[in-house]
Amino acid sequence: MISRVNSLSFIFILPVLKRSNYSTASLVTSRNVSKFRILGIETSCDDTAAAVVDSDGNICGESHFSQQETHLEFGGIIPNVAKELHKLHIKSVVDQALANANCTVNDLDAIAVTMKPGLALSLWVGMTYGKHLSVEYNKPFIPIHHMEAHALTPRLVYKDLEFPFLVLLVSGGHCLLSFAKSITEFYTLGLQLDDAPGETFDKVARQLKLRNMDMFKNKSGGEAIELAAKSGDPFNYEVRSVLSGKRNCDFSFSGLKNAAFRRIKEAEEQYKVKASGVIPNYPDICASFQYTVTRHICHRVQRALAFLEMENLITDPAHKKLVISGGVASNQFLFQSLTKVCSQFNYKTYSPEPALCTDNGIMIAWNGVELYRTNSSRIIHNPEHLYLVDIEPKCPFGVDWRQKVVDRNIKTEPFNFMSS
Ligand code: KG4
Ligand code: ZN
Repeated sequence: MISRVNSLSFIFILPVLKRSNYSTASLVTSRNVSKFRILGIETSCDDTAAAVVDSDGNICGESHFSQQETHLEFGGIIPNVAKELHKLHIKSVVDQALANANCTVNDLDAIAVTMKPGLALSLWVGMTYGKHLSVEYNKPFIPIHHMEAHALTPRLVYKDLEFPFLVLLVSGGHCLLSFAKSITEFYTLGLQLDDAPGETFDKVARQLKLRNMDMFKNKSGGEAIELAAKSGDPFNYEVRSVLSGKRNCDFSFSGLKNAAFRRIKEAEEQYKVKASGVIPNYPDICASFQYTVTRHICHRVQRALAFLEMENLITDPAHKKLVISGGVASNQFLFQSLTKVCSQFNYKTYSPEPALCTDNGIMIAWNGVELYRTNSSRIIHNPEHLYLVDIEPKCPFGVDWRQKVVDRNIKTEPFNFMSS
């Protein structure tokens, strides 16, 4: 394994050496704005992914290597391991995406790469490889904000999804509610104060040792809990509403996670479960945990919708849309519950298919298409300037409007989303 990493290390000798080979003019003149193809590279966490998307939103080709299996064995993501795996796979993943798209780097118009936020060591691999291609092939470089890419992916699927709209991002690392005004203008109404929802799904699944059962072996924590919850009782244990005294749209999941942990411990003692064993009432715990997480998210979305109404931010009925993205958006119980909340405000819910909700190269390439189409000032046309952009493991998402929400002091009525 180590020798393979070393044999590929030429990839990571930064393109500085080749800078003198560029022709800035050729970069600019080779750009064809009416019809173009963008390569997207994603390595912000534990997925090495790449895709080519064209100006019409066609997915020309993609490739994806998931590190999930390895990280599940380690019991969590170890940044150094993630980095080495990205290094091992980045070249073959990009080559495969290009082969699937039936093109070469020469045929591309630009290279879009996730630069923020994410794990520093993981982001670095994608950035380095993307810069290397940009320099080697004289291609513009488009730095991508991972969360913006999640937020914009639904526009690839739903061609009539125009700005403005409300977006909910729920993933393994993030949870936020944002008013999306344009490709680069986002106003954040709520943020996570502690754990992200996907992270808590993963931790509760681990605490339940669901992976020791064949049916959950290769599933992420969230997928395993959703599947197990189908045969469970969502009211198995009582958990008080989270942040109920705070009239904001922020999220907190650690209390819900700890309540689930306590319930698991009690059941382990009650059923005298051995070290690797799984408690018999795991479906009830999964259903209850999924229910409490969903209830919390629905409550925050309810307040965000009320805020948008009060501020007259989305008045055209055609724009009353909630877009749900990120890995946890694949959860159908959450999606259906949010749909019920939204219908109270005459909003419709949208979510891309699960493969587009979790991390992938398509969302990065598509964000590249959106930015390239508008000739965004974020694009680095001159490779001499590539040194100006660097990874940002932690970074804000848009403009912070959370205080504006608090100032509105919006009281929300309890909404029973469990009713049909
Ligand atoms: O956006 P994403 O692919 O990457 C990260 O942000 O890490 O989200 C991955 C997360 C994982 O925590 C996974 O457990 C969760 O999304 N997830 C789900 C479901 N499918 C994936 N959570 C709840 N229900 C699901 N069906
Ligand atoms: Zn993500």
